[in-house]
Amino acid sequence: MLGAIRRELLEGLRVAVADVGYDREVDSSAVELEDFDDEEKGEFSSAISFAIAADAGANPMAVAEELADAHRGHGLPTGIASVTVVNGHINYHLDVETMARLTLATIDSEGAGYGSRERTDPERIVADVSSPNIAKPLHVGHLRNTILSDALMNVLAERGHDVTRDNHLGDWGTQFGNLLHEYVEFGDEAAFETDPIAHLLELYQQFEQRDGLLEDVEEFGALTGEFEAAVAEERAYHVDDGKEWFARLERGDEEAVERWEQFREASIERFEAIYAELGVDFDLWLGESFYAREGWNDLVVEKALNEEVAMRGPDGSVFIPIYPDEYDDAGDPEKANVDASLDRARRMIDEAGTVDDAEFDAFYIVKSDGSTVYGTRDLATIEYRVSEFDADQSVYVVASEQNRYFQQLFVAARKMGYDDVRLEHIDYGMISLPEGSMSTRGGQIVTVREVLDAARERARDIVEEKGRNVEAGEVDAIARKIALATVKYGMVASNRGKDITFDIDEAVSLEGDTGPYVQYATTRAYSILDSAPGVPAVDDVDPSAFNDTDHNLLYHLGRYPLVLERCEKRYDAAPLARYLLDLAHVFNSFYHKNRVLDAESAAEERLVLTDATAQVFENGLGLLGIETLAEM
Ligand code: ARG
Repeated sequence: MLGAIRRELLEGLRVAVADVGYDREVDSSAVELEDFDDEEKGEFSSAISFAIAADAGANPMAVAEELADAHRGHGLPTGIASVTVVNGHINYHLDVETMARLTLATIDSEGAGYGSRERTDPERIVADVSSPNIAKPLHVGHLRNTILSDALMNVLAERGHDVTRDNHLGDWGTQFGNLLHEYVEFGDEAAFETDPIAHLLELYQQFEQRDGLLEDVEEFGALTGEFEAAVAEERAYHVDDGKEWFARLERGDEEAVERWEQFREASIERFEAIYAELGVDFDLWLGESFYAREGWNDLVVEKALNEEVAMRGPDGSVFIPIYPDEYDDAGDPEKANVDASLDRARRMIDEAGTVDDAEFDAFYIVKSDGSTVYGTRDLATIEYRVSEFDADQSVYVVASEQNRYFQQLFVAARKMGYDDVRLEHIDYGMISLPEGSMSTRGGQIVTVREVLDAARERARDIVEEKGRNVEAGEVDAIARKIALATVKYGMVASNRGKDITFDIDEAVSLEGDTGPYVQYATTRAYSILDSAPGVPAVDDVDPSAFNDTDHNLLYHLGRYPLVLERCEKRYDAAPLARYLLDLAHVFNSFYHKNRVLDAESAAEERLVLTDATAQVFENGLGLLGIETLAEM
């Protein structure tokens, strides 16, 4: 409802600007929503007078006055009581009674759909979400991805888009050749059966360690001439053997494929158990292997060569040159100034002598040994999403560590002619531990399992200690929901770009601004509604009965759809998380000040308001994947 008023204000302002005779576009940022408590400012305000005054060399106050007059003259929208000018800003003040009536009526009629949008032209969005590598445990980095992307995709779907969630598993590449090699040499069926991921992780670490060690000795040998040949041979044996196994896998060799499938299936089974616990789901699990095995890799490599977007290096590798001026600093591939010509690359190679020294970045799609790489599979994924899904957007929820990579990928995709699909890297900040950065290789990680167990334990203690009306048989189920609320809320509450130092005690703490705080506010609303004889009809509400505290709550309820709009625009769920916390605070002060059930006046009105608040909590928490509780 505030959204509708805002749109009308923008329209009115447009008319006013034209009316006064200024030539200035009024875009959607021209009217902003302000805090409710600042009376001077009004609930909506516009700073467009400053831009116009700067253009025209006029005084912003005078411009604001002119525009306010013109706007007033044409009539203000329903729900706006007045317009004032303060310090050059045009301020619009809500008519609180109309706001109260409209907000309650809208929430009542839309119910669970409040905040959602229907579109005649939904975007078809295919998104990479979660996307862990197989054969390794899920850690808190994956947790952030999985929870953030789940919430975000819920929001995009709620805003009327057609969303396909693809768990783009990392299940192909040289590392699986290494793993096959290591398994064949040192693997232990029994250990694999008991805990496949732990065993594969051990083998992976062992391979990496030996490789690192041999590399060091090799360097030493090269310097001193000692053991040179022996070490080189030993290292080549392992590295080449890994490569050979991956080549066999790519060729479809039976033994390689069979073992790899075992690794993959065992990993997926473990991942699924965790996803089920988190309550998240995917539409697709294509994974990198799909593109390799179904011929999509070959197709894009051929296409890139045929269309002369990619070139072959002297060692037989194939790459797409990315020139330095093709990077858009903001990382926006739409603005990248793409130049597909290979002549420029050839000249650069001539000048530098080698591909590696040339002044472009080579985006490899085939290695010298003929195998494909990560980037090949990503280009193949775009081809697939465009040709099979007719995707309007292909978006990637992936940590900011891969920023540079995605910039290159997107430029490469533009060169390949994928122009009609919007490519978006929805990056999020890295998670490190208090003791330093996380590393699966070095064994320094916190797993999702550890986080969930710790959170549940903490929640159970609290429920046992403080839970009201909680029956003994329900403790576990309630503790599980509270634990998930803690973990999920914590993962989306900070802006997605922010790096996080993950401290497990902090993450499972129930103190302060947490998901359970919002859950608890909802439970309180339910209990008020439960103790009342019934909730009156919205039509029977007298909007003049509300006081300032009520108005503040109503205003926050009215903001909800605008918060979702902001999440949609920023591809972030943090604004929703913060909004729900605000709403919980506002609802708590409403409840403390007004004592709804034994209020002397407006008790009926406040029941309707409490009911509407419970609805908004349910809708918002639902999008974050957090369940509400009747008792806690
Ligand atoms: N599996 C990758 C990793 O763990 C992330 C995949 C992201 N998606 C993509 N299309 N590249 O780093």
